[in-house]
Amino acid sequence: MDFKLRCIDCNKEYEREDIYTCECGGILEVKIDLDSINLDFKFDGNNLSVWKYGCLLPVKIKPVSLREGGTPLYNADYLSEKLGVKVYVKHEGLNPSGSFKDRGMTVGVTKAIELGKGAVACASTGNTSASMAMYAAKAKLKAYILLPSGKVALGKVAQALMHGAKVVGIRGNFDKALALVREISEKEGFYLLNSVNPFRLEGQKTIAFEIVDEIGVPDRVILPVGNAGNISAIFKGFKELKELGLIDSIPKMTGVQAEGANPIYKAFVEGKRDIKAMNPETIATAIRIGNPVNAKKALNAVYESKGVVTQVSDEEIINAQKMLAAKEGIGVEPASAASVAGLIKLLKQGEIEKDERVVCITTGHLLKDPETVIKVCGSPIEVDANIEAIKAVL
Ligand code: F0G
Repeated sequence: MDFKLRCIDCNKEYEREDIYTCECGGILEVKIDLDSINLDFKFDGNNLSVWKYGCLLPVKIKPVSLREGGTPLYNADYLSEKLGVKVYVKHEGLNPSGSFKDRGMTVGVTKAIELGKGAVACASTGNTSASMAMYAAKAKLKAYILLPSGKVALGKVAQALMHGAKVVGIRGNFDKALALVREISEKEGFYLLNSVNPFRLEGQKTIAFEIVDEIGVPDRVILPVGNAGNISAIFKGFKELKELGLIDSIPKMTGVQAEGANPIYKAFVEGKRDIKAMNPETIATAIRIGNPVNAKKALNAVYESKGVVTQVSDEEIINAQKMLAAKEGIGVEPASAASVAGLIKLLKQGEIEKDERVVCITTGHLLKDPETVIKVCGSPIEVDANIEAIKAVL
């Protein structure tokens, strides 16, 4: 396969692969020469995984893999009946580290090896760090992580620590951590694996491929938006399939932000492609981001696919999380439930047609954030160890 890195602002192309931004400051994307592809897979609904679509992924060596992708696309029967649209839920929480980040990390860490790097690094609201630590362990690379101290869900910190990364909490938010890790990585020669890394996003585009593989092209894909890499990646996936003539249309890419961390929503409402950075706050710590680096890519994806960006409150997020868990049997973390909260909101606003087929992406597993669960559900009731005491509380 032939590919180049290309700036999304000035279109300058680069042969070299070890850069993240253009000379002009714009972010880069991998521009694949689709004529050079030897398509060796079929959309037959079988054996879904990131590497089923390896011919569309820009790596040259055997991948560092923990069997990522192949996540279930559930028929959400309760939601479909309640809301009057056909709803599917793609549960990315069932990836090896419990989030969609694994799709990107299998490609990103493989690229680190290809480029001869000895260490990888990221800033994270939690899931990126858990995933990076896991793949770095598999690849025998050193891993350095900056987290916003006190604002990362416990399960994610536990993963990063246990997989052997060096984990540093900074007194500042994610946006600050990202600025710092970019600087340190540059100075120390660490391979940066945040979503400014265009190769990481290539892995995440396989979410689009798996959806098409199972159900063809839906009318709409709804997902939570934080640093805005995933919505950009999934759109790129659909776009490549269309350019290859494998599909005829692209779903409306629909992003959901938390009200307290909504710079992309605000830009969308004003019809802009640039955001104004803000100080973020939300219970959905995974998307507690005020200055998303991929904002421009994401807004391009939304405008080009005729989608929308909406915002939801923390209360709407938790209600959707509870509904998914209790009515569909799908356990997700708060940020992931923003997709379903957004669907409910857009239906109320008449933004979504009743005959649409909608896929909600749930990005991370329920067990990532046990502390929020206890906060919103309470602790289990404790009683004496006898039948009467138990019966009394049933
Ligand atoms: N959902 C979850 C569970 C996430 O962890 C993230 C991002 C998102 C949604 C948003 O995805 O940034 O591509 O728009 N988490 C990053 C992290 C920032 O560090 O784990 P995005």
